[in-house]
Amino acid sequence: MKRAGLTLSLLLVVLGQSLATTPRAPRPGGESAANGMVATVNPIATRAGVEALKAGGNAVDAAIACALTLGVVDGHNSGIGGGCFLTIRLADGRIVTLDGRETAPAAAARDMFLRNGKADSKLSQDGALAVGIPGELATLAYASTNFGRLPLRQLLEAAARVAENGFAIDSHYASRVRATRTELAAFPDARAVFLRGLPAVPAKGDILRQPDLADSYRAIAAQGTDWFYRGRFATKTATWIRTHGGVVTAADFARYAVVPREPVHGTYRGFEIVSFPPPSSGGVHVIQILNLLERFDLKAMGDSSADFVHTVAEAMKLAFADRSKWLGDPDFTKVPRGLLSKDYAAELAKNIRPDRASAVTGAGTPPFADADFFRREQSRHTTHFSTSDAEGNWVACTASLNTSFGSKVVVPGTGILLNNHMDDFSAQPGVPNYFGLVGAEANAIAAGKRPLSSMSPTIVLKDGKPILSVGAAGGPTIISQTLLAILRTLDFGKSPREALAGARLHHQWKPDELHVEAAFGDAVIAELRKRGHTVVVEKSLGAAQAVGLAPDGGFLGSADPRGEGLADGL
Ligand code: GLY
Repeated sequence: MKRAGLTLSLLLVVLGQSLATTPRAPRPGGESAANGMVATVNPIATRAGVEALKAGGNAVDAAIACALTLGVVDGHNSGIGGGCFLTIRLADGRIVTLDGRETAPAAAARDMFLRNGKADSKLSQDGALAVGIPGELATLAYASTNFGRLPLRQLLEAAARVAENGFAIDSHYASRVRATRTELAAFPDARAVFLRGLPAVPAKGDILRQPDLADSYRAIAAQGTDWFYRGRFATKTATWIRTHGGVVTAADFARYAVVPREPVHGTYRGFEIVSFPPPSSGGVHVIQILNLLERFDLKAMGDSSADFVHTVAEAMKLAFADRSKWLGDPDFTKVPRGLLSKDYAAELAKNIRPDRASAVTGAGTPPFADADFFRREQSRHTTHFSTSDAEGNWVACTASLNTSFGSKVVVPGTGILLNNHMDDFSAQPGVPNYFGLVGAEANAIAAGKRPLSSMSPTIVLKDGKPILSVGAAGGPTIISQTLLAILRTLDFGKSPREALAGARLHHQWKPDELHVEAAFGDAVIAELRKRGHTVVVEKSLGAAQAVGLAPDGGFLGSADPRGEGLADGL
């Protein structure tokens, strides 16, 4: 598969925060702490989360501190110009899933990215037309008001100080700037912040200051989120976008609303899985793949054996074929609940042969596909972080601008980088998006609609008590990474760090390629080829973060050993 001259293989390497070539040697367990844990891709963001806990905040405040700080120190991946999905397990046992996904502007049209009848990916990936209405800030504010303990303005001020004083970029940040240099140069404010603000060839340790972003955070602290959604930022953004060929209006910002949704629930070998519902495909397919895999004795196969990789990949293929047909924003399209049915998994699992890669020709038909839907009232570009506290609040949050530096548009004078999540729609049936994902009617563009996502912030419970908060970055590989972390925790008894360190695989049905990390070893890779898989070997695939319950009742946390992140606790 080719997309903008890049193969999926190359994309998987450049996506997410996973550019370090070899995972660090796994340390058993991960970081441990008794009273709370925070795991993010960046030590400065992790420390901001821990500071929030120390200041009397709970896991929700810690997550908000992480999100706001990641928008400063990891701003090419996520920020308030983008969106997020937030899964919270509250100490009283309630599960809350907040949909902060971007929406298409009111003037968006189904064929808006077609030129001469063909989808033009440049338009959906860079510049004014690529931008969806951002939902992260509204979601953080909603979570803060309803479930947090610290004032949002305190967390904004702490993140503003990091933006104002500057921070040393990590090697991944430096590589993202180098790789996106040409695209960033096309947008004057992005050029000023990221290209003039850093040396010509940026490297780890270079200092980046973002005074405009600090001012924006402080404006929100002083004036509330209305500054962003109904005030100066909305009008400035709309003006810039309209004068540069886009269709976003200030009214689109004023209309934006966080949607509290009903989580998707599944079970796997006696554990409860709670994850994010549509418009994410993540939760649905993590649970669907677990349903398929429950029918196989993975433990007997052995972690990372050829049998294990083959079986998991076959299950992924079946689920991603379903994704291409059935998944979209449930407020606009009918997403069948039957995708989560164990009986449906039993039927689909018959397609998995132990000795041979199967040819999956298309989506299956889940039970009651025409009658039972997710209902409206249910209610490595990207980043995932997890937090927990001693009271029993656990958070899994995945946030994103979509691809590196999103649309590359920095709204003049604000330091705020805007997403390019319009590219997560299906611009034309069967035409792959940036991630090589194909979609159809269910994910076609419509005014006010939310593009389909793979973000999978997931919490695993045993007897009603959380034991794991996990999720990942990296487009569709988010689903695979989250799944593998759960399998390694539940089937193989691994700690968070070991579960994240394990070798990864990914199959998304189209293209028909099985991506595996080299760490599986030559013998396993040769055996997979023998079974008919087109194997693409990656040095490193993805970036996941996890917090787990320690045997002593405390917490274990781990940032992805492939990256430069940190887990730390209280
Ligand atoms: N932009 C990646 C996702 O939402 O799946």
